Amino acid sequence: MKIVVIGGSGLIGSKLVRKLREHGHEAVAASPDSGVNTLTGEGLAEALKGASVVVDVSNSPSWEDAAVMKFFETSTRNLLDYEAAAGVGHHVALSVVGTERLLESGYFRAKMAQENLIKGSSIPYSIIRATQFFEFVKGLADISMVGDKAHLPPVLFQPMAADDVASAVGGIAVGSPVNGTVEIGGPEQFRIDELVRRRLALLKDPREVIADPNALYSGAKVSERTLVPGNDARLGETTFETWLTQPASQIPSAKAQPARRAS
Ligand SMILES: NC(=O)c1ccc[n+]([C@@H]2O[C@H](COP(=O)([O-])OP(=O)(O)OC[C@H]3O[C@@H](n4cnc5c(N)ncnc54)[C@H](OP(=O)(O)O)[C@@H]3O)[C@@H](O)[C@H]2O)c1
Repeated sequence: MKIVVIGGSGLIGSKLVRKLREHGHEAVAASPDSGVNTLTGEGLAEALKGASVVVDVSNSPSWEDAAVMKFFETSTRNLLDYEAAAGVGHHVALSVVGTERLLESGYFRAKMAQENLIKGSSIPYSIIRATQFFEFVKGLADISMVGDKAHLPPVLFQPMAADDVASAVGGIAVGSPVNGTVEIGGPEQFRIDELVRRRLALLKDPREVIADPNALYSGAKVSERTLVPGNDARLGETTFETWLTQPASQIPSAKAQPARRAS
């Protein structure tokens, strides 16, 4: 089966392409690096020729409110149009658990717009909402700095390994479209401030983490369970402890982009 992975050079995309190929699929990694740009449409017709499935694990280079909205709206519209023309039978997209509870954030308004375009299109689809990646825990400090301290809300979250995200996305991509939303999460819950504090200490990063009930998450107010998936979520196997023994945990953040904000 030919499966085009939009954002195939990214954190999740590169793992997904490898896993799909290991399972014998023709997985094509598509991104500006390989001449495919969903914002302009460049290279899309050629990449989608003969594809059964398109998986969108791209992300906007800028998380500024207007830029991120333009990215997800334009790229999703283009993708769905080119998929219809190419006869693609399944559109899979990666979104974030709690998106509809985080709409004070420009990033999450853009993810919501992406989801709504997919639901309104004629292409059968599966939307996968994941919790935060372990690889992103240090990034949570980076986007939460007030002066020289990271201010984080002491609420629950249930992060997961990027490798488990890629496995779950791959499994859904090769199945029938669910025409709905599937939640995935990690095997354990933590308080955000505690895990970020622990991660920074392990990285010998001297920044202090303050548990601040008024701190925003990516610009949105959060409460105890805003970021936690529902009871039907499919859970990854990798615990934070196990992930720490893996090479991925030695990299401070998989794709360090200090200007970015949390997703
Ligand atoms: N971070 C989290 O904790 C979290 C949690 C749940 C869900 N998510 C979602 O997971 C998804 C993937 O995140 P990630 O961290 O794997 O992303 P990432 O590592 O930042 O990779 C982004 C990818 O998007 C591609 N891209 C950028 N502009 C593009 C364009 N115009 N056309 C086509 N491709 C383009 C990039 O290609 P180049 O390399 O060629 O620039 C890259 O392959 C996002 O949609 C995010 O909302 C994230």
